[in-house]
Amino acid sequence: MSLIFCSRTDDPDEWRAAFAEAIPDLEFRIWPDVGEVDDVEIALVWDPMQEKLLRFPNLKLIASLGAGVDHLLAATTLPDGVPMTRIVDGNLTQGMREWVLLQTLYCHRQVPAYWAQQRRQVWRQLGQPFAQERRVGMMGLGVLGAAAAEALQHIGFAVSSWSRRQKCLAGVNSFAGLDELDEFLAASDILVCLLPLTPDTEGIVNSRTLKALPEGACLINGARGGLVVEADVIAALESGRLAHAVLDVTCEEPLPADNTLWRAPNITITPHVASITNAGSCAGLVADNIRRVRAGEAPQSLVDPTAGY
Ligand code: NDP
Ligand code: OXD
Repeated sequence: MSLIFCSRTDDPDEWRAAFAEAIPDLEFRIWPDVGEVDDVEIALVWDPMQEKLLRFPNLKLIASLGAGVDHLLAATTLPDGVPMTRIVDGNLTQGMREWVLLQTLYCHRQVPAYWAQQRRQVWRQLGQPFAQERRVGMMGLGVLGAAAAEALQHIGFAVSSWSRRQKCLAGVNSFAGLDELDEFLAASDILVCLLPLTPDTEGIVNSRTLKALPEGACLINGARGGLVVEADVIAALESGRLAHAVLDVTCEEPLPADNTLWRAPNITITPHVASITNAGSCAGLVADNIRRVRAGEAPQSLVDPTAGY
């Protein structure tokens, strides 16, 4: 059995070494050196694959190298009936929990405003709401959103969530579906986006939804750039409707030097590092799914291609 690895951003040597330990009898091939295509039963991928996966007639599993699969579903012609999995890993979840906590505290404790004061040598104390007075809205309450929401709730924030289906997470006020979106937004002083990018969620943070937020709200996007209409976020920052935006992801990545987002007021940009898939941590999970597929069992962390995540 062989695996084909295809990613321009992940290090193939790290994954090869991790797989050599996790599943030593698997032959590890790196795109474009596909070898005999009939042997390839596993695709481990991050890049959009266009028609490439159709070349492997015996493919049994498509494993995304990330938690998100928008890159695959949007731009890949998939072979019929081959299951697709995504990364669900405790270390990836912990990374996102840390990042969301960090950025929420950064906005809540007004770090950007104090930095601005420091640059002007201004010593002035700003009014500071209590955490329980700060309403954090978690858009997407899946594996990552639920972990981050629990951590925020644990340290005292007033947390609510918005998802497709109603949720029951202790201490978190659940909103679901488009009918409840505006009510959720109106109660989000800090809006955290951890939605997958799908046809339903693309551009969901736009001038209309930004207007539904309280005046002076903050936006934190740790999911996908395409969730956000970037021009609308820039306009909301310029008008002061948004006090601050933290973007870990952008529509075009890497963000080009001439992109206006870099120069927007009150913006913090990080280069898609909220939480990063680690080969040592995740190869064992993929190897376990390969064993399941070999044994004729269903793999774990399956993607629902119809829902898009
Ligand atoms: P999950 O699939 O576990 O959760 C997705 C959540 O979004 C669910 O709560 C789901 O609702 C909700 N959702 C999906 N579609 C809609 C919709 N149309 N309306 C309302 N809610 C919706 O994903 P994860 O938590 O594992 O990951 C979230 C995203 O984070 C990934 O897709 C990826 O893009 C991004 N990511 C970014 C990283 C980074 O470093 N920046 C790192 C890792 C992931 P329901 O529960 O009802 O199904
Ligand atoms: C992911 C990511 O989806 O790294 O895992 O963005």
